[in-house]
Amino acid sequence: MSDVIDKIPYLDLTKEFSELESEWFELIRETGARGSFILGPNVKAFEKEVANYVGSKYAVSVANGTDALMLSLRGLGIGPGDEVITTPYTFFATSESIDMVGATPVFADILPDSFVIDPESVRQKITKKTKAIMPVHLFGYPANMEELKKIADEHNLKIIEDCAQAFGASNSKHRVGSQGDTGCFSFYPTKVLGCYGDGGIITTSDKELVDHLHKLRNHGAVKPFVHDEIGTNSRLDEVQAALLRIKLKRINQAINHRSQVAVNYSEQLQDVLTAVPMAPENGIHAYNLYTVRAKNRDALRQHLTDSNVGTSLCYPQPLHLQPVYSELGYQAGDLPVAEAACENALSLPVYPDMPKQHVDHACKLIKDFYK
Ligand SMILES: Cc1ncc(COP(=O)(O)O)c(C=O)c1O
Repeated sequence: MSDVIDKIPYLDLTKEFSELESEWFELIRETGARGSFILGPNVKAFEKEVANYVGSKYAVSVANGTDALMLSLRGLGIGPGDEVITTPYTFFATSESIDMVGATPVFADILPDSFVIDPESVRQKITKKTKAIMPVHLFGYPANMEELKKIADEHNLKIIEDCAQAFGASNSKHRVGSQGDTGCFSFYPTKVLGCYGDGGIITTSDKELVDHLHKLRNHGAVKPFVHDEIGTNSRLDEVQAALLRIKLKRINQAINHRSQVAVNYSEQLQDVLTAVPMAPENGIHAYNLYTVRAKNRDALRQHLTDSNVGTSLCYPQPLHLQPVYSELGYQAGDLPVAEAACENALSLPVYPDMPKQHVDHACKLIKDFYK
């Protein structure tokens, strides 16, 4: 079978689209016939469905995951002079959102086995200016919310969960997005729950914050044409909400498929690679990405590229060493676990309906490389 595979894309959403197309187009037609394109019935229903699924009381949809983080910070009153502790091993939007509200990101190191923020390192970074912790449930693996909540309670800090990559992930029965002051999700197409454009949502159980977020996402308007603060335009489109409602109905099935792909990879690669990802004890890894640690990572990646297998480097450079943060004064060696991950982590293909033969073929190529 593997003989006939000439290409394995890093990500392929086309089969999923063809399966959802007719149901989604029907909902788009209904939306058009109704003539209600912004904050319409699909957006409102989707917000309730997400809150239900995640286990929070409320959800407020926004235009993308970056806005979900930025508006959470604004809604929680975090701004200039404040510090927010986060991970350097994540997509740039995480720390960017902190800068967007005028606060300062402070980077803590990560755990070597799971790539998520190390609660002990968080403790060491707390100062008088610290106002919040922003853990990232990276690649679909939930950060240790129990420990982080203990730290937050001891120091009176807010927690803004970056759940962009982890819809449906859970730790000790709690889904991500239900334990912090807010949970911030992205519906960028590559995410576990992705739309066909941009989208995001904030989950919370704080009603006062919900009222504030409704205002902030709509130009700070208390009622039409009356503005009592500066907000922004950050709303989820009705047609994307319609698609997301269809996909949410199948989300457990989608996550199960990703888990099967991951188990299949791990069984074949655990003795070949330095480390393969594992689900947390008593929890669910949503496997938005399947990221391994590999010796000679760059040569392995080249070998896979030459064999038409797509891969990605998530992430090649830690945020504390990004040029934009040079003024913060971090040096190479400050956060060694994150820096090492940037040297040896490699993300392999995983996507909806990825066939087992593709996983087997990629594994065979990896085993050949290390022979
Ligand atoms: C960890 C993380 N945080 C935040 C974001 C930002 O989400 P969006 O692209 O929807 O703004 C992303 C998206 O890639 C992400 O991976």
